[in-house]
Amino acid sequence: MKIVETCAEMAALCRTVQRPLGLVPTMGALHDGHIALVRRARADSETMAASIFVNPSQFGPNEDFATYPRSFERDLHLLEENGADLVFAPPPEEVYPDGFDTWIEPGSVAQGMEGSARPGHFRGVVTVVAKLFTITRPDRAYFGQKDGQQVAVIRKLNDDLNLGVDVVVMPTIREPDGLALSSRNAYLTPDERETAPAVYRALCAAEDVWRRGERDADRIRRAANNILGREALIHAVDYISIVDADTMQPVGTIPVGGRVMIAIAVRLGSVRLIDNVVLS
Ligand code: PAJ
Repeated sequence: MKIVETCAEMAALCRTVQRPLGLVPTMGALHDGHIALVRRARADSETMAASIFVNPSQFGPNEDFATYPRSFERDLHLLEENGADLVFAPPPEEVYPDGFDTWIEPGSVAQGMEGSARPGHFRGVVTVVAKLFTITRPDRAYFGQKDGQQVAVIRKLNDDLNLGVDVVVMPTIREPDGLALSSRNAYLTPDERETAPAVYRALCAAEDVWRRGERDADRIRRAANNILGREALIHAVDYISIVDADTMQPVGTIPVGGRVMIAIAVRLGSVRLIDNVVLS
């Protein structure tokens, strides 16, 4: 497994490797959710590359960039164990050198939900993902449904800018009690960790109401809110959104045959948890 720290070396190497080339972009602190992407990319590709880059531009000024969990040596070990050929791990100044001044501004798909709660977040995400795609020129890139709006934003980036990458989306990996794996789960206190699965229970309650025939988004949302409302440690529900799974625009009535996503963000202690399910 080769570890590469410069954009120039990564770009040169990726021009010579066996195709198809699969890319798994990450911010490190790898868990089984990331590893599921890595394994799928390994199985699909002649050459498998992962990136580890805690992207400063997708963190807000009051967010956790400085304290974001980092476990570089362990990550390299996990990637090697799971068959990675290349790991791209540039320092921030490689990706954003002095004078860097070009940004990609995503449109309406990035405006609600995480886009409203974290201004500038998706601008940072799409800019770094476009750079990673340009440096490595992968045939396929792998993302998790856990970040459902990120998936929609990246698909739109890829389509609108003709980046030509096959974007592969993998299901959310969960703990046995339903909590979606996330690097930020490490911040939860034991009490908060016990409360955290309520988010997935709320999503399941909403899905269940839909399955029984309810099509009104407000009533479906109420089913989720009832579950979250019982949890004293959840001190804010940032949103319970019911949106078209591709455009991220809110739907009032669930259409027949449409792909609709129910997404939740809550605050539990110092941690923000997000999760979603797709109705189909
Ligand atoms: P990060 O949070 O490290 O996640 C890397 C990839 O792993 C993303 O595609 C994310 O959706 C996926 N992932 C995380 N938790 C998952 C889970 N429980 N099940 C399945 N997949 C999961 O997302 C980012 O990094 C960054 O925004 C990035 C795309 C790398 C750009 O900086």
